[in-house]
Amino acid sequence: MGKKWRAAILASGSGSNFEAIVNATRRGEVPIEITKLVYNKEEANVKKRAARLDIHALYISHLNFPTREAFDLKLVSELKKDNVELVILAGWMRLFSASFLDHFPNTLNIHPSLLPHFRGLHAIERAYSAGVLQTGCTVHRVVVDMDSGPLVAQSFVRAEGLSLGSLRAKIQEAEHSLYPKAISFFIRNQEK
Ligand code: GAR
Repeated sequence: MGKKWRAAILASGSGSNFEAIVNATRRGEVPIEITKLVYNKEEANVKKRAARLDIHALYISHLNFPTREAFDLKLVSELKKDNVELVILAGWMRLFSASFLDHFPNTLNIHPSLLPHFRGLHAIERAYSAGVLQTGCTVHRVVVDMDSGPLVAQSFVRAEGLSLGSLRAKIQEAEHSLYPKAISFFIRNQEK
């Protein structure tokens, strides 16, 4: 394994992907050093996981900034303090301005569908209602447009015959397995 990339994880929700990435990193499966978690919703459960896993967590509310750009620049300055090289979005429900992505072109996201299908909110529910036989999850590089950008990896989940709850659980399981592998794959490709 080459050098470890300095990576920040940004999350707004339950944090199950955050925990999967931390655990895989601690097992030596992902060549990153996690600098900190940043979360933007005070009640986000991810902060409890960070405390349990002993990862430094920083709360920055976008509500305290007048514009998207101002919030993004605050994030940039916090991440630059740690010399972050890779930004990992794990249930981070906000778009970025170009000024953030200019500083951090290596930003990855996970989305619970086979992109480019079902971008945006409630992707699992919409795929289920559409009656797809197969759906899954996607890791991609982040660009200014929502749930777009070059694909890094996808995992397929068979939807046929499943209840919505079982489909959700299977996609979550697929995400937890895919994201650490996709991060490692992305880093190896950057180092070539
Ligand atoms: C995940 O399913 C992730 O794919 C989704 O948020 C969930 C976060 O779960 N992200 C998006 O929809 C981004 N457009 P978690 O907090 O348990 O990791």
